[in-house]
Amino acid sequence: AEVVIVQNAEAAGALVAAEIAELIDARPDAVLGLATGSTPLPVYQALRARLEGRDVSQVRGFALDEYVGLDPAHPESYRSVITREVVEPLGLDPRRIHVPNGAEATIQHAGDDYESAIDAAGGVDLQILGIGTDGHIGFNEPGSSFASRTRVKTLTEQTREDNARFFDSIGDVPRHCITQGLGTILRARHLVLLAFGEGKAQAVADAVEGPLSAILPGSAIQLHPHATVVVDEAAASRLR
Ligand code: F6R
Repeated sequence: AEVVIVQNAEAAGALVAAEIAELIDARPDAVLGLATGSTPLPVYQALRARLEGRDVSQVRGFALDEYVGLDPAHPESYRSVITREVVEPLGLDPRRIHVPNGAEATIQHAGDDYESAIDAAGGVDLQILGIGTDGHIGFNEPGSSFASRTRVKTLTEQTREDNARFFDSIGDVPRHCITQGLGTILRARHLVLLAFGEGKAQAVADAVEGPLSAILPGSAIQLHPHATVVVDEAAASRLR
């Protein structure tokens, strides 16, 4: 992967937003791969100014993951987060922005449905990724096959603790999720992984330089011909 070290999260946001704006100029119906969590927020923030005045009505998007069994109307469902942080502020067409369906009633075929929707869109042009302190990308926790497709996974205790800040208490953090697989993510044409802060340093080093291993899900990016890692000094601190 190409590693770009930037001053701070704002600089990363500006850099990646510029790349996305260029993509949309070249391809008005570009397919964006959208991450949630805190890391990509500076990208979405910078995109507000970058995309102003542009016709974004054709832009398409696919979120990485969703909690299972959380009401989509819950403010912390990834459906809600994507609507609030991406669709509404950027003025995207909500019908073109997809989030995996975490409803228990349809969970059996939700993964296949999502894969079909990504295929029908012609695949993802640019996939934004964060990385978990335990090394996950999407919610592919340690022990995820590099060939995996969208499916249900169990969140690790580490991830539930990390995400408890979005909920009233850790007991409210769902135990299961539906996530694009590592194989799904690897099919995107360009991966852009962002990470900020000391807490991500080991996960970044494992992803960029670690052995290829299902135990280090981020290491899957080493198999991708066009992966860019945008990090601040602290997140880069364990790179050799
Ligand atoms: C979110 C996702 C996760 C997060 C990761 C880091 O859609 O797929 O992999 O990117 O958990 O989360 P933050 O950015 O909140 O540190």
